[in-house]
Amino acid sequence: MEIRNKVAVVTGGASGIGAGMAERFAREGAAGVVVADVNLERAQGVAAAIGERALAVRCDVSRETDIQALVRQARERFGRIDIYFSNAGILGRMGGIELEDALWDSMWKIHGMAHVWAARAVFPEMLERGEGYFVVTASAAGLLNIVESAPYGVTKHAAVAVAEWLRIAYGRKGIRVSCLCPQSVQTDMTRDGTGSAGVDGVLTPDQVADVVVQTMREERFLALPHPEVAKYFQAKGSDYDRWLGGMQKLYAQHMERKG
Ligand SMILES: NC(=O)c1ccc[n+]([C@@H]2O[C@H](COP(=O)([O-])OP(=O)(O)OC[C@H]3O[C@@H](n4cnc5c(N)ncnc54)[C@H](O)[C@@H]3O)[C@@H](O)[C@H]2O)c1
Repeated sequence: MEIRNKVAVVTGGASGIGAGMAERFAREGAAGVVVADVNLERAQGVAAAIGERALAVRCDVSRETDIQALVRQARERFGRIDIYFSNAGILGRMGGIELEDALWDSMWKIHGMAHVWAARAVFPEMLERGEGYFVVTASAAGLLNIVESAPYGVTKHAAVAVAEWLRIAYGRKGIRVSCLCPQSVQTDMTRDGTGSAGVDGVLTPDQVADVVVQTMREERFLALPHPEVAKYFQAKGSDYDRWLGGMQKLYAQHMERKG
């Protein structure tokens, strides 16, 4: 799909990858860009930089009613939604199974249900028009896990699975679905360091946007700004036990560093 003249909604649009995508959609000639974020002030800043074609909306994606209100406001302003970029995410505290349920719960919602709720809100209209694009920002951690955080790795797998399921069920009905799985990107999320995700370098949101736009143009499922991820994913698929052995080594190194 080409972006020109399309209306795009970006969640988590106030910062990092989301802000980069909102700006890129505008530069590619989108007819409208909705910058949605729980932080309205920052979303307004991104929208102001884009100009008249942008609308900032406060939306907490961990609440279905907020997503429904976002979709309503986007339609009121621009008439339709062609592209929904479901991107908001949190890193939370690092750790394993001991981390509190409240953190797991919010990650299940933000990295899992938010994509389901968004699809539920935008797909009927896209199906009627026979066209639409839905992009989920997961993470390389959704394909390969991550040693620093159990809830992040686990819930990002859910994000990949939601995107995959949507592509399976709706791909022949005109709705394109892609899944963005970067390793480390230079954003607020990686301000305190990149951890194991930084192994293949840290990209800028602009570099990520290049890959997303190209992936959308080709309508492929996986957007992999770090090409190494495809290689690791293949290694995992071809010898799961060997791959797990390598990850155990990484986990041991991480725990040793932590002391
Ligand atoms: N930065 C990385 O290295 C990296 C790597 C892989 C995947 N990701 C994913 O990319 C996405 C964007 O992250 P980023 O790196 O740009 O981080 P970021 O912190 O710069 O941006 C995240 C944005 O999401 C917003 N947000 C958080 N919770 C929200 C909620 N409940 N409702 C609405 N908005 C909410 C924040 O206010 C913020 O503006 C996330 O899903 C993240 O998991 C990031």
